[in-house]
Amino acid sequence: MATVEYRIRPQGRVLQQYANCYDRVAFIMGPLGSGKTIQSCINVFKHMREQEPNQENVRPSRWYAIRNTYPDLFGTTIKDWLSMYGELGQFKQGNKEPPTHFLKFKLEDGTTVEAEMIFIALDREEHIKKLRGSQATGFWHNEIKELPKAVIDMADLRHGRYPSMVSGGVKPTWNGMIGDTNAPDEDHWYYELAEEDKPEGWSFFRQPGGLIRMGKGIATKFIQNPAAENIKNLPKGYYTRGMAGKAQDWIKVNLCNEYGSVADGKPVYPEWNDAIHAAPDVLPAIKGIPLELAWDFGLTPACIISQVTPRGQWRIVDELVSEGMGIRQFAKNVVLPYLASEYPSFAIDEDGIADPAGIQRVGTDERTVFDELEDAGLPARPASTNNFLPRREAVAGFLTRLIDGQPALLVSPKAKVTRKGFSGGYRFRRIQVAGEARFMDKPEKNAASHPHDAVQYQALKLDAHVKNPIAKKKNAAPAPQKPRVY
Ligand SMILES: Nc1ncnc2c1ncn2[C@@H]1O[C@H](COP(=O)(O)OP(=O)(O)O)[C@@H](O)[C@H]1O
Ligand SMILES: [Mg+2]
Repeated sequence: MATVEYRIRPQGRVLQQYANCYDRVAFIMGPLGSGKTIQSCINVFKHMREQEPNQENVRPSRWYAIRNTYPDLFGTTIKDWLSMYGELGQFKQGNKEPPTHFLKFKLEDGTTVEAEMIFIALDREEHIKKLRGSQATGFWHNEIKELPKAVIDMADLRHGRYPSMVSGGVKPTWNGMIGDTNAPDEDHWYYELAEEDKPEGWSFFRQPGGLIRMGKGIATKFIQNPAAENIKNLPKGYYTRGMAGKAQDWIKVNLCNEYGSVADGKPVYPEWNDAIHAAPDVLPAIKGIPLELAWDFGLTPACIISQVTPRGQWRIVDELVSEGMGIRQFAKNVVLPYLASEYPSFAIDEDGIADPAGIQRVGTDERTVFDELEDAGLPARPASTNNFLPRREAVAGFLTRLIDGQPALLVSPKAKVTRKGFSGGYRFRRIQVAGEARFMDKPEKNAASHPHDAVQYQALKLDAHVKNPIAKKKNAAPAPQKPRVY
């Protein structure tokens, strides 16, 4: 048998860190051509060789490489893998089984590596079936941002099952998931995991961009990044030539390795100006003014905490958002404790406002979510309408008004999702048609849309007060409210 010697090494500092990582999950984000895919192949291959041998001196392992579509799988993932390791085994494809590379080769120490590399495309039903029942050592997610989070979740429960004690007396020496991706959008699940949640045992590596962006708007310039990785394996001028004829947003994401804002949608609030409406520092709640709460219901409840200054400036000081939680749990276990710890000396306005859909009775006990809020001591009433246009206009009105030279709406950095929503994350989705850009007439449901529903209910409430001062009188608390202590 022929001898093969590999002399491939990581082509940059971050690639090296990715290569050295033994965490349960190691994901790398980088610009096009930065060597991510090749490095992922090298990492899997390293784990194959490092698998502890069993009694027969065999190092057994089973790997899954996952890609969104079959053409992508064949066109790049499989091609790259086989170009490096094809000669070390047999590649089989056809019938019902996903394409698989069966590797079998001897190491210098006399042991034999026997590994399977199974290639899965998400658009193939029979592949997904295979994945659900897989007994794997580990996974390689290729182009992570194209994969639904559910696939990552499922895979995370399937690794570490092979080799099993039953099949020959060794355990996986390492098991887990690796993966590579171009920069996703800011509202992508990858962004949340890498930049916000940072789960225990997960490592996220970020390579330098191939280009650096200088300036903003029409003054934007891109220049070659001297710190770019894998550059010596790319054609000369790969990035500077690569940007020709491309849209700025595309360059930013694919060549600069910056998270994308809203390449595929139209912001609901073009009136928003981050430099004017986003407070640069945390807006402390103003003593003596009650906190007003606005609620969105559903399985992703949100609560917007705001104040109105004596001059009428609306300040969104904070937000609470959640996922997979009913309103009772959200109010009692999230909102109440949060108010008690962050705003202990503040009165809560008794005239809360919420999603009118909440008046429907739920379950068998004939209660509404408004009853639940009342129970929690956070009463609210339904907003005047759930029609999208008046809701949007109410908020837009605040964005376009000045009060004593100040913006009528100010958002604190504490209201992170709300702000991201205002600056484009809350958006109309693009309709996929050829020709001129067209958009849906209702905003996309996403992480930003839920707090923004609540923002709109609050705006409707404030507007009603301004337009109808009698209503304001009627709704105002008869006596100054005592601060509520929890
Ligand atoms: N370790 C390496 N040694 C030599 N050449 C490499 C190495 N890694 C990548 N390359 C070259 O760079 C090209 C781009 O790498 P690739 O991994 O496909 O980038 P990405 O997945 O980041 O777009 C590859 O086609 C290969 O020619
Ligand atoms: Mg790649």
